[in-house]
Amino acid sequence: MKLNVLFSLVSADELYFTDRTTVVIDVLRASSSIITALSNGANEIIPVATIEFAVKVSGGMFGGKTLLGGERNTKMIDGFALGNSPFEYSQKIVENKFIVFFSTNGSKAIVKAKFSKNLFIGSFNNLSAITKHLIKLNENVEILCAGNNNLFSLEDSVCSGMLIDEIVKMNSKVELSDSSLAALAMYEKFGSNIYEMLKNTEHGKKLIQNGFESDIEYCSRCNTTNNIPYFKSNVLKLLIPGGSVY
Ligand code: MLT
Repeated sequence: MKLNVLFSLVSADELYFTDRTTVVIDVLRASSSIITALSNGANEIIPVATIEFAVKVSGGMFGGKTLLGGERNTKMIDGFALGNSPFEYSQKIVENKFIVFFSTNGSKAIVKAKFSKNLFIGSFNNLSAITKHLIKLNENVEILCAGNNNLFSLEDSVCSGMLIDEIVKMNSKVELSDSSLAALAMYEKFGSNIYEMLKNTEHGKKLIQNGFESDIEYCSRCNTTNNIPYFKSNVLKLLIPGGSVY
């Protein structure tokens, strides 16, 4: 089992992911919101790479059960029902709904990795569940950090490093690429207080300025759920223990 980290969306093109096992990480906040929405009973999430496509796809789908969710520049998009705060994806709002989801980096990362054989969504919230599942799969893994507008982001890289650390602790035969070693080193340097680390990132500071500090605290919580979103046939659903999809 070899682990490799891609630190931004421009590190690879779509075809790179063909037949690979990939984990997309966008800690602030797309991964955390997607995990929350599916955990709270959303039927499925349809990630899209443009706002125009979100609007087009949502029109007339699933007879009134569709919600448009996501953000541009951390704020809710005109005409969308939901923004990208995990607190908006409560059971009352999302249960039995189909959510068409666009976000600046997270949904684009998922769409980019769509040719993966296995594509999972990870964050601090479900880290231990993802770790156990990857160890069971025993495949080489690409960890795709959604990053920040095609650039590096510390929060996704530290989360990748924590995932690698957990996997290495449970499986001593893991091979690490140079980028995995770098992610591990970032986790060792910045991972002792995840909430503080998140608040001091570029994106964390922007979220605080825009009134979303409680989202940062929510996204910093480790292992609050065992739920793993899994991408198949263009939609995200939850993986159930044993490997099939709800
Ligand atoms: C993204 O996909 O870039 C984000 O999740 C941004 C955010 O809403 O904080």
